Amino acid sequence: MQTFGNQKTLPLEKSYSQKDWQGGYESLTQEYDYWIEDIEGKIPTELQGTLFRNGPGLLDINGQRLHHPFDGDGMISRITFTKGRAHFRNSFVKTEGYLSEQKAGKILYRGVFGTQKPGGWLANIFDFKIKHIANTNVIYWGKKLLALWEAAEPYLLKPETLETLGKEYFNGVLSTGEAFSAHPRIDPNGKLVNFAIKPGLKTTITIFELNTNGEIISKQNHQIPGFCFIHDFVITENYCIFFQNPLEFNPLPFAVGIASAGQCIKVQKNQPTKIIIIPRKDSQKSESEIKTLETNAGFIFHHVNAFEVGNKIIIDSICYESLTDVEPNSDYRETNFEANAPGQLWRFDVNLSEQKVQSQLLDNRSCEFPVIHPHNVGKPYRYLYSAAAHNPIGNAPLQAIWKVDLASEKREVWSAAPRGFVGEPIFIPRANSPQEDDGWVITLVYDAGHHRTDVVILDAQNLQQGAIAKLHLKHHIPYGLHGSFTPETFI
Ligand code: CO
Repeated sequence: MQTFGNQKTLPLEKSYSQKDWQGGYESLTQEYDYWIEDIEGKIPTELQGTLFRNGPGLLDINGQRLHHPFDGDGMISRITFTKGRAHFRNSFVKTEGYLSEQKAGKILYRGVFGTQKPGGWLANIFDFKIKHIANTNVIYWGKKLLALWEAAEPYLLKPETLETLGKEYFNGVLSTGEAFSAHPRIDPNGKLVNFAIKPGLKTTITIFELNTNGEIISKQNHQIPGFCFIHDFVITENYCIFFQNPLEFNPLPFAVGIASAGQCIKVQKNQPTKIIIIPRKDSQKSESEIKTLETNAGFIFHHVNAFEVGNKIIIDSICYESLTDVEPNSDYRETNFEANAPGQLWRFDVNLSEQKVQSQLLDNRSCEFPVIHPHNVGKPYRYLYSAAAHNPIGNAPLQAIWKVDLASEKREVWSAAPRGFVGEPIFIPRANSPQEDDGWVITLVYDAGHHRTDVVILDAQNLQQGAIAKLHLKHHIPYGLHGSFTPETFI
C-alpha cells in the first residue's frame, strides 16, 4: 500500500533548540485581564473584533506532570481589537474535572492521551472515566461562546467575562455526554456544520447542521463499518467528507490500565484510507447513498478545504505517514522531531462517476493548522495559510507562518525562528474587499527569549515584509490548539 511517506531529507541546520521549545509547555495558572500596552508596530484601526483561542493551560496538576499536552485543562484566551488597541483576558473552562482536581491538588482522572492517575495499573484498571477537558477549540456562533472537545458536549461561556455557564445541549438535542466535535465548518450560506464520532466495531457518524441562532436544525446518524478516529472533516455544497484512516485499536492495554486510549491506536500501513462521502441533508445531487473510495495509508488530523468541480470533489489535507507513538514511559518534551513523520500538504482528486481517487503531494514543507478565507469554505479557493516548519523540508517544531498560492508555485514564509514558536494562524478578511488574500493573519508566538507570548499580526498579502504589529503579553500562553475570530468586540 502506498503511504503518505516522503522521506526526503537534507542535512539542514536545526532552526531551534529543544530547551527553547520546551518552555512553551509550562502551565499558566493565573487568569489575567488587561489592556496590552507593550506593542511593536501599529495595530490596524480597521481590525475590529475578538480572537478567541483554546488550548491546554495546565500541563501539570500541582506539580504532577500530565503525560501528554492534549490531556491539559482547556484555557480560553481572548484578544479584543478595537480602535487600534488590544485587550487580553484568559480564563480556564471551569469543568467538573478542573474544579475537582484544583480542589484536591492532584490528578484524579485518566487522560485520553496517556495521563494516568498515580498508583500504576492498579489505580487505573477498568477506569473508563475520562475527564472532559474542553480544550480543543472555541467558537462564537448564534450568540453562544462554546468551548469544544470532540468526545463530549460543549461548554458554554459568557463572552464578556469568560465565565463558565455550564454544558450546552442545544435545547435538549444533545444528550448527556454526547459528542460534538471540535472541528465545525461554517458554510458561507450561514449554516454551521459539525459532526460526532461514536467509535466501536461499527462507527456511528452524526452530522449536525445549526442555524445562525445557534440551534441544531438537523441531526442525522450514519453507520459505517470498522473503527474510526476522526478529528476533522470537510464540507462542500452537497457533501460531508470524512477520512477513515487505517487504524488498529487494541483496547486491552487501556482496559487493564497500562496504557491510554490514544496509545492503543496504530496506523496499519498495508491498508488503505477510506474516503467516506455523505450527501448533505439538502443535497441537490440525485444520489443519496454514502460513497466510499480508497486512497493511501496514513493519518490525517486536519483538512484544509474541499470543493466540487462537476462530478469531482477536490480535497486538500495535511497528511502523515504514521502517528507518533506516545509511549507509556516517554516524555513528550523530549520528542525527537527529526525521527517523526512530518505533516504535509496533499491534494485528493475524487472522481465520483469513475469511483477513482488521485492523490498528489503539493509541497514538502512540514505544516499544520491550515486556514483559508471564511467565504471559501466548501468552495474553490486559491490561498491557504498554515503554521509550518522554518526549513522547507524535514520535521521540526512549528516556527513559521506559511502562505500557499494553489494557483501557482508561489509560497511566502514569515518565520519566528530561532527562538519563536507559532500556533494556529487565523485569517481575518478586510471588510468588503473582493480579494481573497486581503486581510490579516494573526497568530500567537511563544518567544523563548523572554518566556512570554506575542500576538503577531501579519499582512496576508505580504508576509515577508514582517509583522505589522507584535503585541507583547505580560506572560506566556502554553502552546494552544484551535480558535476563531468574530467581528463582535467583547471587553
Ligand atoms: Co484539530
